Amino acid sequence: MTLVNGLQPDEATARGLDEADGLSSLREEFSIPLDDSGHPSIYFCGNSLGLQPRRARTYVEEVLDEWDRRGVHGHQNGPAPWFPYHELFRETGARLVGARPGEVVMMNSLTVNLHLLLTTFYRPEGRRRKILMESPAFPSDIYCLQSHVTSRGLDPDEVLVMCGPRPGEDCLQTDDILEAIDRCGPELATVMIGGVNFLTGQVMDMAAITDAGHRAGATVGFDLAHAAGNVILNLHDWEVDFGAWCSYKYLNASPGAISGAYVHEQHARNRDLPRLAGWWGNDPDTRFRMHLEDRFVPVPSADAWQLSNPPILAMAPLRASLELFDRVGMDAVRERSLRLTGYLRAMLESRPGRRYRIITPETDEDHGCQLSIVIDGDATDAFRTIEDAGVVADFRPPNVVRVAPTPMYNTFHDCWRFAMLMGDRFGTPDA
Ligand SMILES: Cc1ncc(COP(=O)(O)O)c(C=O)c1O
Repeated sequence: MTLVNGLQPDEATARGLDEADGLSSLREEFSIPLDDSGHPSIYFCGNSLGLQPRRARTYVEEVLDEWDRRGVHGHQNGPAPWFPYHELFRETGARLVGARPGEVVMMNSLTVNLHLLLTTFYRPEGRRRKILMESPAFPSDIYCLQSHVTSRGLDPDEVLVMCGPRPGEDCLQTDDILEAIDRCGPELATVMIGGVNFLTGQVMDMAAITDAGHRAGATVGFDLAHAAGNVILNLHDWEVDFGAWCSYKYLNASPGAISGAYVHEQHARNRDLPRLAGWWGNDPDTRFRMHLEDRFVPVPSADAWQLSNPPILAMAPLRASLELFDRVGMDAVRERSLRLTGYLRAMLESRPGRRYRIITPETDEDHGCQLSIVIDGDATDAFRTIEDAGVVADFRPPNVVRVAPTPMYNTFHDCWRFAMLMGDRFGTPDA
């Protein structure tokens, strides 16, 4: 057998890697769905919906019990009162994305947060009205930007500038994005790009893009749906103006879970910024003076972008999730992720006669957990074969299968099983 990355490509080696890895025990903190034959499935869909942390149920039940026991008094009393519940995530949420406490708030869902943040950070004025985004972008981002621009009385066809891969290439080149920013120059109002591309798994050079955007006089924000809990972010130090992410992917916080929003502290402390406001963004000391105080006094932090009192039941699973991230730390999570995804790639690319190729960039800083695999021939049928074999992954037409070994609960053995399956079905079987 040929060695793969210096390792025997056999099952015993994969199991040995799991035994030797200090973070393997994290898997026990999660419920792993079973396949049709009752065995743990190869769950490679953390890029879409992360698995349930076992403690999520405890925290959801705690809210139900407190509501049952205390009714409205649960807002101020009990183990985790609801009035300041969102503050439970102030520090853990900030650590997750390289922000400072006060720069992050958990609220709403992702597209809603992007609209709220664009209200503040997209300030078209005179010739400066363009928004630069990536192609392909997640559809919700496109609809968000198109409708946002229209709501300001502008024409999306004139305002939106798309930057995509070069002909024949799958991923974007950072130089092309920087050049597009320079080209827009004084016409550029805002850059809004996915920090990790949803389709290819490519990690963007967020520091360089932010720097170039600022030099052009624009504000810069990122959709971090595929980045939060996946790659190392330093939003504060990169001086990113705004960002938002969902918590149902790598953050494992339940379907449609509460989203995160980030605002750099230089803006978060600025009470004069234009924004859409609601009572939960108001100074908590005067929030309940109701009709006695009709002047909005924003909290001098990202909390000021909150509109409504948050859905506590929906927030409860996020406690379980962020406790795990905090216990392990993003650096260790990322290190394990690089080992797992690197092993999966090496194993997949060692299969003889393979009729698929990985389009996700290979260098560490350019990818997260996800590998996007283009399959030759009938990719829809190929994906059915993969699913029938007990793999939970996803398919993006016309031909991309996305697999994400997530460091919190996937194993080297999952990666080995998947590579064997791909080799068997879409390659020449081993001699
Ligand atoms: C990159 C990206 N942006 C936006 C969204 C939309 O998120 P939401 O439904 O929470 O608004 C998703 C959802 O998967 C996504 O992957």
